[in-house]
Amino acid sequence: MKFNTKTIHAGQKPEETSGAVMPPIFQTSTYAQQAPNQHKGYDYARVGNPTRTALERMIAGLEGADEAACFSSGVAAMDALMKMLRPGDHVVTTNDLYGGSYRLFTKVFEPYGINFTFVDMTDPKKVEEAITAETKLMWIETPTNPLLRVVDIKALVELAKPKNILTVVDNTFASPYLQRPLEFGADAVLHSATKYLAGHSDVIHGAVASSNKEIMENLRFQTKTSGAVPGPMDCYLTLRGIKTLSVRVQRSVENAKQIATFLEGHEKVASVNYPGLKSHPQHELAKKQMDDFGAMLSFTLKDDSIEAAVQFMSNTKIFTLAESLGGVESLISHPASMTHGSIPKEVREKAGLRDSLIRISVGIEDAEDLIADLDQAF
Ligand SMILES: Cc1ncc(COP(=O)(O)O)c(C=O)c1O
Repeated sequence: MKFNTKTIHAGQKPEETSGAVMPPIFQTSTYAQQAPNQHKGYDYARVGNPTRTALERMIAGLEGADEAACFSSGVAAMDALMKMLRPGDHVVTTNDLYGGSYRLFTKVFEPYGINFTFVDMTDPKKVEEAITAETKLMWIETPTNPLLRVVDIKALVELAKPKNILTVVDNTFASPYLQRPLEFGADAVLHSATKYLAGHSDVIHGAVASSNKEIMENLRFQTKTSGAVPGPMDCYLTLRGIKTLSVRVQRSVENAKQIATFLEGHEKVASVNYPGLKSHPQHELAKKQMDDFGAMLSFTLKDDSIEAAVQFMSNTKIFTLAESLGGVESLISHPASMTHGSIPKEVREKAGLRDSLIRISVGIEDAEDLIADLDQAF
C-alpha cells in the first residue's frame, strides 16, 4: 500500500457489529467478561480500547512499524519511553531540542540518576565523542525545534547499532508523510500527535511506533502501570485528522516554501532557517532524508531584540500568536520566551537560539494572504 492509501486504510476495517466505516468512540472504562479473564480482547480501558487500537494500527502503518502505542500527550509518550532506562544510564541528544523534552530530561530524569549529553547532532563526530560505556539511548529530533537543523538519521544509527544503543527519533516536525525514520534503521519513532497527525489544534495526543519487541513490551507495561492513556474521543479525533494528513501537509509545505523565499529576501530579516532553502546548511541531506522540506520555519531579525520580535508578532493579523504547530491555521511564536522558556538563556544562546528568533507553523491558508500579513507586520 502506498502512503496516501495508508492514511485512509492502514489497519482499518469496518466495525464488526454495525459495519460503521469509522471506528465508533468506545466510551467505556471496562468490558464484560464471560468468566474471569475470558473476554473479547479487552478487560479494562487503561490497558486497551478499540478506538485506540484502530489509531495505533494506523500510526504503525504510516511509520512502517509492527506496532504503535498511544499516550495522553507527546511528553507522556516520551516519559514512558525514558522509563526503559535505569540509574547510571546515559543518553546522547541534540542541543537544539523541544523545550519540554529538555525539561523532562533535566528536571525529571536527571534527578533519578539518568545522565544526558546535549550536542550538535548535525555533526556525527560530536555525537561519537559524546558516547560513553553507559550510553543506552540516542534521542534524535529532526528537523529540530526551533532552528530547523536536519540530523542525519542513518549516520547516527550506524554509530549506535554496533554499540547496542537504541535510537529514537522525534518525528513531530516532519510527520510520516515527509519522513519515516524506521526506514533509516531507527528503533522507534515518537510523535506529539497533537501536531500534524491530528492536525486541527483540537487534541493533545502522543504516540510511539516501533518494531522492536522490547520497546513495545515496555510501552504496553507503562500504559498499564503508569496509565498516561488517551481517551477514546481523542483517539477518534486523531484518527480523523490523519485521514487528511497528506493533503494538509502538502499544501502547508507549498505555502512554507513561498514564505521562506519571501523572508529570505526581506531587508529586515537577518537569517531564515528552512531546510528547503539552498542556503540551509543541511539542504542536501534534507533532500535525501525527507520527501519534502516541511512547513515549519524560523527566522531572526536584524534588530536582534526580544522587543522587536514581540512587536512583529503582535502586528500580524492572520498568524495567531500561540504555542504548538502542525494545525491547519498558521501560528507564530517566540521560542526564547514561550516553547523554550525553560531553557536557561546561556544554554539556548550557545545552541544558537537568539532573542529575536521567531518561529512559524505554516497553515493551509492562501500563501498570498500569509505573505501580505507578514509584509505589513514588518
Ligand atoms: C518536537 C516536539 N516533541 C514533543 C512535543 C510534546 O508534545 P505534547 O505537547 O503533545 O505533549 C512537542 C510539543 O510542542 C514538540 O514540538
